Amino acid sequence: MQEKLTESRRSFLTTSGKTMAGIAIASSVLGANAQKAAAYSYNTGFKYTKLDPAKVGAITYENYFKRWCASSVIAGFVEQLRDKVGGQWKDFPIDAMRWAHGGMAGWGALCGTLTGAGTVIGLCTNDTDIGEAMANDLAFYYSYTEMPNFQPQKILKTEIHDMSIAGTPVCHISVGRWMKTANESFLTDGRAERCARVAADIAMETTRMLNAWKDGTFKAKHKPLYNVVANGITSQHNCKDCHGNDIPSPETYQTLEK
Ligand code: HEC
Repeated sequence: MQEKLTESRRSFLTTSGKTMAGIAIASSVLGANAQKAAAYSYNTGFKYTKLDPAKVGAITYENYFKRWCASSVIAGFVEQLRDKVGGQWKDFPIDAMRWAHGGMAGWGALCGTLTGAGTVIGLCTNDTDIGEAMANDLAFYYSYTEMPNFQPQKILKTEIHDMSIAGTPVCHISVGRWMKTANESFLTDGRAERCARVAADIAMETTRMLNAWKDGTFKAKHKPLYNVVANGITSQHNCKDCHGNDIPSPETYQTLEK
């Protein structure tokens, strides 16, 4: 796996039509030369054992109404790992990431479910490329899967039926698209229920990835975006969502060596 990812990175750097620009941008973004951007292994001491995705989802859902998105995903894992694995999980402060709710204290940036999931991924896995690949797959899953899909055994707020496709991992846009689909405002039981179920969906997908990794069968489904190089700015290919037809060109700026 590791070899495969490293290989794809190498071939990207050597075969891209914008090789030099690519290296220059990768360098300025990563603050090092492209060589130093290679993956490396690490050990956090946090161990993982395979979990039942449905159970992780259920615990995440139940935690949501107190802990909100980021910490609820973390709770879905920690509440089981501290019993099944023990060790450092026993003292893990589930609420340490609660601030990431609402895209960081309500700022609408990255959906907190992904901050929570990424934290667990980074703690359990042991190679920077694995974490990167899982986070990338999760961003694709989050952005292009109709959600919420999770169905609680006992509904804690209210029944909802509408699903939407976020198209992005950005909290504000994701929530906004669901609100538009469901015709509900933000401060409603329906919207809270939606985010609780999305948190469960993301926790479940994360469990499936970590289980595969534990089995030695995790394989990245998606290529890295590498849009920093393609678009000249950290991004998806969704410029029109915000800029309309008036997309600014990064070529205007002197900061990118070519
Ligand atoms: C989520 C909304 C959003 C998306 C999607 C988005 N942008 Fe932006 N972008 C902004 C905002 C807001 C600014 C700040 C503009 C300002 O203050 O004038 C900005 C600024 C920029 C700038 C530098 C400032 C400027 O106005 O020249 C560039 C270059 C840029 N965007 C390019 C892109 C490209 C290329 C894409 C797609 C690959 C993209 N953006 C996607 C919201 C977005």
